[in-house]
Amino acid sequence: MEHASYQARRGEIEHYFDRTAVKAWEHLTSDAPVGRIRATVRAGRDRMRSLLLSWLPDDLHGRRILDAGCGTGAFAVEAARRGAQVVAIDLSPTLVELAVRRVAQHLDTFENGGHIDFRSGDMLHESLGQFDHVVAMDSLIHYEAEDVVRALEAWAPRVSRSMLITFAPRTPALAAMHAVGRFFPRGDRAPAIEPVAEQALKRALVASPGLQGFRDSRCERIASGFYTSQALEVSRA
Ligand SMILES: C[S@@+](CC[C@H](N)C(=O)[O-])C[C@H]1O[C@@H](n2cnc3c(N)ncnc32)[C@H](O)[C@@H]1O
Repeated sequence: MEHASYQARRGEIEHYFDRTAVKAWEHLTSDAPVGRIRATVRAGRDRMRSLLLSWLPDDLHGRRILDAGCGTGAFAVEAARRGAQVVAIDLSPTLVELAVRRVAQHLDTFENGGHIDFRSGDMLHESLGQFDHVVAMDSLIHYEAEDVVRALEAWAPRVSRSMLITFAPRTPALAAMHAVGRFFPRGDRAPAIEPVAEQALKRALVASPGLQGFRDSRCERIASGFYTSQALEVSRA
């Protein structure tokens, strides 16, 4: 059963990523030139994507991966290039359409058997099926810590190997940045980012009955100018 805080935040996120910020995301996730602030965000996001990919095997043939909150599909493309069968889902049908158009340009690179099945909808939906890995790059950063734990609990029974998520680490610098709402310049601000305390999150994962059989393993922060995000690997013990 979905928690009210999750539903409320999901509504705001859907509105933001399907309307307010579509152009900003199209631009940020393209090769087009960006200003100084967004260049730091783009560089940080590129590093984060590479980090998450490095926590998966080089050869992903035969692996099923859920790209949870896929946005414009950059992670899904890289995973499919390595041979993965990817289900890539996002709340925003507009971003998914953009992802499908972009992937059409990469189709030749999936000759190794990789495949992407794009969907729009909720990334927690049971009907998405079973996966070896779930990867949620920056798609849980707008949810409260309790909802992050509930998301992992929802995926856990359907995941055979690992769940890779990112969260916004609770740091003094981030708290100050969020206080003045500067993640994006005024006019296309995102819904609030929820800073999460690393140790409290890890304690909650250990205490969760729904995550018995999993352990948090790798955890690494990427900080690049206006982008700060922390990757966490939760894998089957
Ligand atoms: C910051 S963007 C990151 C997109 C992509 N993972 C990337 O790194 O380029 C967050 C994305 O998560 C999606 N998202 C957030 N909550 C979601 C949910 N409950 N189900 C599906 N997508 C969700 C948003 O629509 C948005 O496109």
